[in-house]
Amino acid sequence: MTTAHRIVLASRPKGAPTADNFRHESFDLPAPGAGEVALRTVWLSLDPYMRGRMNDGPSYAAATGIGEVMTGEVVAEVTESHDDAFKPGDLVQARIGWASHGVSAGADLRKLPTDNPAPLQSYLGILGMPGLTAFVGVNDLLEVQSGQTVVISAATGAVGTMAGQLAKAKGARVIGVAGGPEKCDFAVKELGFDLCLDHRSPALRDEMAMAAPDGIDRYFENVGGSTLSAVIGNMAEFGRIAVCGMVAWYNGKNTDTAPPLPVVWRNVLTKRLRVEGFLIFDRYDRLDAFLSEVGPMVADGTIKYRETVMDGLDNAPDAFLSMLEGGNFGKQLVRVGDDP
Ligand SMILES: NC(=O)c1ccc[n+]([C@@H]2O[C@H](COP(=O)([O-])OP(=O)(O)OC[C@H]3O[C@@H](n4cnc5c(N)ncnc54)[C@H](OP(=O)(O)O)[C@@H]3O)[C@@H](O)[C@H]2O)c1
Repeated sequence: MTTAHRIVLASRPKGAPTADNFRHESFDLPAPGAGEVALRTVWLSLDPYMRGRMNDGPSYAAATGIGEVMTGEVVAEVTESHDDAFKPGDLVQARIGWASHGVSAGADLRKLPTDNPAPLQSYLGILGMPGLTAFVGVNDLLEVQSGQTVVISAATGAVGTMAGQLAKAKGARVIGVAGGPEKCDFAVKELGFDLCLDHRSPALRDEMAMAAPDGIDRYFENVGGSTLSAVIGNMAEFGRIAVCGMVAWYNGKNTDTAPPLPVVWRNVLTKRLRVEGFLIFDRYDRLDAFLSEVGPMVADGTIKYRETVMDGLDNAPDAFLSMLEGGNFGKQLVRVGDDP
């Protein structure tokens, strides 16, 4: 019997979560039943949406229950299989949550290619859900064209990194928005954005107006807060906004920096904006197109990215809390077990 470890939701946060909202537990890994597979986690992905699962109440996905393992996607090694499609040693993406081991229905797993051009953990980041989110937002919602001015918020994060580089590859002029000079420097010098503004600047709205004198044609919205306030009044006529996330508000903070609703609606109306939200789980039909177009660009280094790696499952709560406040620089990951 394998003794496994997991992080469960101990209590629901009020406002910003704290370490007390999480609890480490040991458990005996059950044997896999028919059609099931036993897994050993190598990498765990931490993503802002997990903050929403800590709340009770109506949402697009069920809340994590008190005492339940925190939701999450992992890259794992198959250790035992009762599904003919998998054998021990296979590497898979699975949704077993913040856990060192788990048992999953084989049908819920995605096998990783054996001729991996990219490191394993990239299937949780640049070649995983965040990368696909950027691809769908830039191509399908924003339909970015050459010559357009495109603003990307959380520009150096998992989604923003890819969204900005894809928009650049289409010939757009890309303005990133990120927290602090180091991240902004990276966006321009490494990711190739045309410029990058610091969302902590009190003059962000004026800086945005100067950066986009003819208006913003496309906005990839990841944050809300003061960035949305700076963008909304500077949108160009017939501009589009893809609403991907609003991380500035997930902890119930920064509502004072939000643009008033009458300002938002006035801009939407008078500038004839198209504003569209999307949730990536509706769009997995685009995965093959994404991997075939972007996979080679990641493999040959055309697409650049950064990762922030925390070692050890026990440190996942700290890494998660830090990420929500911008402590990550690129995709936030936890190394849970040794590479196979
Ligand atoms: N719609 C979907 O299906 C979907 C899928 C994936 C992700 N998302 C959303 O996309 C967004 C980015 O996700 P990600 O995984 O790429 O995370 P990420 O950008 O790697 O990490 C979150 C980043 O948010 C930024 N942030 C935190 N507080 C902020 C504030 N008050 N104002 C401005 N920026 C702030 C921080 O960057 P700075 O240091 O630059 O502030 C932080 O690094 C999130 O809103 C997420 O929920 C949506």
